[in-house]
Amino acid sequence: MKITVIGAGNMGGALIKGWVKAGMMTDLTITAHTQQTLDCFAQTFPCITPMLDNSKAVQGADVVVLAVKPWLVEQVIGEILPELRDALLISVAAGARHERIDVYAMPNIAAEFGESMTFIEEAPKAAVAAELFGKVGQCKIVPQRLMGAGMMMAGCGIAYVMRFLRAMMEGGVEMGFYPNEAKEIGMQTMQGAVSLLRETGLHPEAAIDKVTTPGGITIKGLNELDHAAFNSAVIRCLKAGLK
Ligand SMILES: NC(=O)c1ccc[n+]([C@@H]2O[C@H](COP(=O)([O-])OP(=O)(O)OC[C@H]3O[C@@H](n4cnc5c(N)ncnc54)[C@H](OP(=O)(O)O)[C@@H]3O)[C@@H](O)[C@H]2O)c1
Repeated sequence: MKITVIGAGNMGGALIKGWVKAGMMTDLTITAHTQQTLDCFAQTFPCITPMLDNSKAVQGADVVVLAVKPWLVEQVIGEILPELRDALLISVAAGARHERIDVYAMPNIAAEFGESMTFIEEAPKAAVAAELFGKVGQCKIVPQRLMGAGMMMAGCGIAYVMRFLRAMMEGGVEMGFYPNEAKEIGMQTMQGAVSLLRETGLHPEAAIDKVTTPGGITIKGLNELDHAAFNSAVIRCLKAGLK
């Protein structure tokens, strides 16, 4: 199978690196606007074929993944259309629609480490795309009306989780840890919290009860979050991109 990724940026790069790391025995080609971007790939991933010519890159491809900025989608499809033939065309570009696109997907950059949370819009060929994105993380096929919500929670969600971690670091530094120590403490605590939920299947509030002694210090911190409208801030943050 030949897969061509158009756009070797944050998202396209993460996907193709994730597929290489997943050991996919596939012919992988990637394109970019500049040779400089391609050179970085060629050095680290010699098994990937880098190309500047989009049209040439899709020749003979079974799957083409469009990972350019949304405003370039129309132009790039125009370039590759004559060579696309019956290739499965998947777009990860947020909000850009085109009649030739077979599947709309919304992964996140953790694909590079096999940890993407990818949303795929219901379509006749969605299952084929899901198999592909399933190699670089978890995948969910959803109706079109949930794609925006998926993008906010998982695509943009990475940034929101980083902000929470940054806040933890700043608190940790104020209390006496060096930034790197505070980062490690925050990351391990997050990982522990995720493992706890995964292993036990608990609802987050039930897990909170396990950490919270009546009259103790955890509830003091939780109530401070409530006074600062933390819940509401997170909900508003997630809904902001849907307006
Ligand atoms: N970043 C995310 O977390 C994320 C998550 C989900 C979806 N997406 C979607 O992924 C798409 C790309 O976002 P990004 O963050 O990866 O952007 P980015 O880092 O700016 O990457 C865009 C890439 O496209 C290349 N490019 C520009 N014009 C091109 C052309 N005409 N032909 C081929 N390649 C071209 C650029 O090449 P040069 O490097 O040479 O300039 C660059 O490597 C967007 O539509 C976005 O909505 C992103």
